[in-house]
Amino acid sequence: MTEPLRLGIAGLGTVGAGVVKIVRQKSALLEARGGRPITISAVCARNRVKDRGVSLDGYAWEDDPVALAQREDVDVFVELVGGSDGPAKAATEAALKAGKDVVTANKALLAHHGQVLAEAAEMAGSVLRFEAAVAGGIPVVKALTEGLAGNDISRVMGVMNGTCNYILTRMESAGLTYEQAFAEADGLGYLEADPNLDVGGIDAGHKLSLLASIAFGTQVAFDAVELEGIGRVSIEDIRQAADMGYKVKLLGVCQMTGRGLEQRMSPCLVPASSPLGQLDGGTNMVVIEGDQVGQIVLRGPGAGEGPTASAVMGDVIDIARGTRVSTFGQPAATLSKATPAQTATPAPYYLRLILLDKPGALAKVAAVLGEAGVSINRMRQRSHDQNTAPVLIVTHKTTRAALDTALAAMVGTQVVEGEPVALRIEQV
Ligand code: HSE
Repeated sequence: MTEPLRLGIAGLGTVGAGVVKIVRQKSALLEARGGRPITISAVCARNRVKDRGVSLDGYAWEDDPVALAQREDVDVFVELVGGSDGPAKAATEAALKAGKDVVTANKALLAHHGQVLAEAAEMAGSVLRFEAAVAGGIPVVKALTEGLAGNDISRVMGVMNGTCNYILTRMESAGLTYEQAFAEADGLGYLEADPNLDVGGIDAGHKLSLLASIAFGTQVAFDAVELEGIGRVSIEDIRQAADMGYKVKLLGVCQMTGRGLEQRMSPCLVPASSPLGQLDGGTNMVVIEGDQVGQIVLRGPGAGEGPTASAVMGDVIDIARGTRVSTFGQPAATLSKATPAQTATPAPYYLRLILLDKPGALAKVAAVLGEAGVSINRMRQRSHDQNTAPVLIVTHKTTRAALDTALAAMVGTQVVEGEPVALRIEQV
């Protein structure tokens, strides 16, 4: 019989339990596809007695993930512990040092230490794969590193945090406030232990930085991702945007420009009729644009036991088959250090202002926009019955710098109440 590929699984939460189930329940399929049996030698988690809905009989138990990573009877260390440092990092480093292959679902670890770990893997002759780290069950890492490897990639965009998309969708469809939708997501167990990872855009930013590295052959640069979460998105903006034919999404965009690598994760408006605009609930979507293929849209579950375990197993089966792809699609030493773009590519913007309802107010706003070189495309003043008038403006394409100049000058007009809202409209 061909030698089995022996796994050591660190972390038996939702995803770990899902991986164990697949290995136990699909042994014939895994062997047929991998060309050799896939077995589990040992596991490790914080709580040994917890019922995980799957038997752990026959597996050795380790309390320490580092010890698990170094075991003689482990060929592939499956890291499902999470966290950018601490035990996950120590055990991954130990596994690579011991010459093991590593499969991880840990986006934070790779966003912070991806380059160093990819180099360590190559030094050791090991592979380090992370399909489950980005967009759960969507095989987007494989799509970029393999299927689309013959393309110059011009742009990668995505909704890659299901929790944020769920919150924004519920605000829109049920008229909930941000706080109500957040509480609902919390009640459903969607939020990470630190909710700011979700709603602050950090989790999605980690994922974006990993895709940018593969797409543009650059070293992972999470610190250069321009990050803004969804905490300031109001129900009013969701309603007004819908009225003008847009949806609000926490959208990640990365593209290589003449000014450097642009990586943004922020609330944006997208056309309601576009695939991204039609993405409701906790689902993820990644849009990839390549010079040969044109546009590819990948859609699917971004989290959960089955989808994430499915992604882990895709990497494991690749290793069983002998498929050895560099972590970021090319040798780590050939990844360049990208210059971060200091400014975003020009785009149209949505503006919402509260104007004092007095003669000449609108003219003053139009004047400051014009003086900053920002041209108005569409404008709407809603019916109102107080002393203030809500005004919506969609600009033509403009730079963020010009827009910021105009927004700053609006304070001086003394006709704008409060802080205007400005949201980028991404052309998808
Ligand atoms: N918390 C993430 C999400 C899943 O809501 O999409 C794990 O990255």
